[in-house]
Amino acid sequence: MDEQSRLIEHRDPDTHTMSSQTDTADMRKRVHVRTYGCQMNVYDSERMTEALDAAGYDACDNPADADLVVLNTCHIREKAAEKVYSELGRVRQMQADRRADGKDMQVVVAGCVAQAEGAEITRRAPVVDLVVGPQSYHRLPELVGEAGASGRAIVATDFEDDEKFAALPARPVPGPSVPGKAGKPTIRRAPSAFLTVQEGCDKFCTFCVVPYTRGAEFSRPVTEIVTEAKRLVSAGVRELTLLGQNVNAYHGLDETGTSATLAELLDRLSAIEGLARLRYTTSHPRDMDDALITAHRDNAKVMPYLHLPFQAGSDGILAAMNRKHTAQEYLDLVGRIRTARPDLALSTDIIVGFPGESDADFDATLAIVEDVVFAQAYSFKYSPRPGTPAASIDDQVPEEVKSDRLQRLQRTLFAQQTAFNASKVGATMPVLFERAGKHPGQLVGRSPWLQAVHADGPPSLIGEVVEVSIDGATTNSLSGRINAMPRAA
Ligand code: 5AD
Ligand code: SF4
Repeated sequence: MDEQSRLIEHRDPDTHTMSSQTDTADMRKRVHVRTYGCQMNVYDSERMTEALDAAGYDACDNPADADLVVLNTCHIREKAAEKVYSELGRVRQMQADRRADGKDMQVVVAGCVAQAEGAEITRRAPVVDLVVGPQSYHRLPELVGEAGASGRAIVATDFEDDEKFAALPARPVPGPSVPGKAGKPTIRRAPSAFLTVQEGCDKFCTFCVVPYTRGAEFSRPVTEIVTEAKRLVSAGVRELTLLGQNVNAYHGLDETGTSATLAELLDRLSAIEGLARLRYTTSHPRDMDDALITAHRDNAKVMPYLHLPFQAGSDGILAAMNRKHTAQEYLDLVGRIRTARPDLALSTDIIVGFPGESDADFDATLAIVEDVVFAQAYSFKYSPRPGTPAASIDDQVPEEVKSDRLQRLQRTLFAQQTAFNASKVGATMPVLFERAGKHPGQLVGRSPWLQAVHADGPPSLIGEVVEVSIDGATTNSLSGRINAMPRAA
């Protein structure tokens, strides 16, 4: 359903840096990284790709051409493990084809299914050489080498230390290359990048596997994040989205050994020259403090968009989910945010059919949606996750009831998203152009409210923030005309 896979972009061979003396072109191998699930996995895949690049692997799009295949898996909903096993069946066939041609292929399962299933994966799928959990990615090249040398499968799923980020190679190696403007250096990275600042979760919502797969909450130190951000900006990044399962609970240490809040981190990052925009996701309503709310008002680089999951609208279900807030507290919070920044667009996550959810409980969810009015939303049928408290509640909601509720909810959300986009027709707004569109001469960018915006313009505008007059809207995007040249950074 909502699990998407994304191929990590192909590296431009011209921009490739040789990273070790033994890395002659013909000795380099190829890796295919396939990413499932959330933005944090996208970030992790990029970091794994970089670590492997330094160890002599070029990224490739086609797994059949790869000496190494990495599946970066997601465990949040549905029969995630089953999907991984069926994908591994296809990989085994590709490996057999390569062996018939005298080549080989190593296979790695990473991500949250790796963490949750561990050695079970190597038992059920002997094609797998390495199972590696999210806390061990800095050891990936070494573990791949070990598995290759020993001929035995390795399982590395300990929550060993907090050194992962520091031990991964410094970013960036060249990312997808886009043409630069005359006289300007070639932009090496897409203009918008993810940066994980916090990982893990101590909230233990009763439906969620994250506290088990990603472990306890850990915040990266401020200087480490600022250094990574500066490197990204110097490689052409203009917009950073700070990632964390509970990003607004960020509490990393600064240079003086004091714990910094997310508002303080945003303040530090906004001082980076050339960085135009800051976003962060995902926030928990309980950690939305006043300083963070007012950052949306006072800091021009912090975008007027907030992803703030409420999950369910009835206080009984919220309590059973262990969300630790009521419906009214959520609505009051939204009120405070909109007072500070009236044009802020809200997005959310909603679950229907949590165990015990009655028709009246579901109506309370719809009531919140109607009250808040969201610009965007992600809605899911509750899916029991083995090992989580909610999975063993007896009162599970029948599948047909879940489907019916999801359909009704999505109808409302869809209408709200369409109306939000339509409300921007006639407006002029700054758009950060990110890439070429499907049609010749077309560019695609993002509005401050995270809407995709299509406009005709030269590729030299990729990476620039440009004023666009909006003259069309659909449920998923806006279109417009460029009416001013780039603003100074
Ligand atoms: N079933 C359905 N949805 C879930 N989510 C997390 N766990 C489950 C589950 N067991 C949803 C929540 C969360 C989003 C990332 O995924 O809405 O905010
Ligand atoms: Fe999961 Fe709740 Fe933590 Fe979000 S806050 S990651 S839903 S346990």
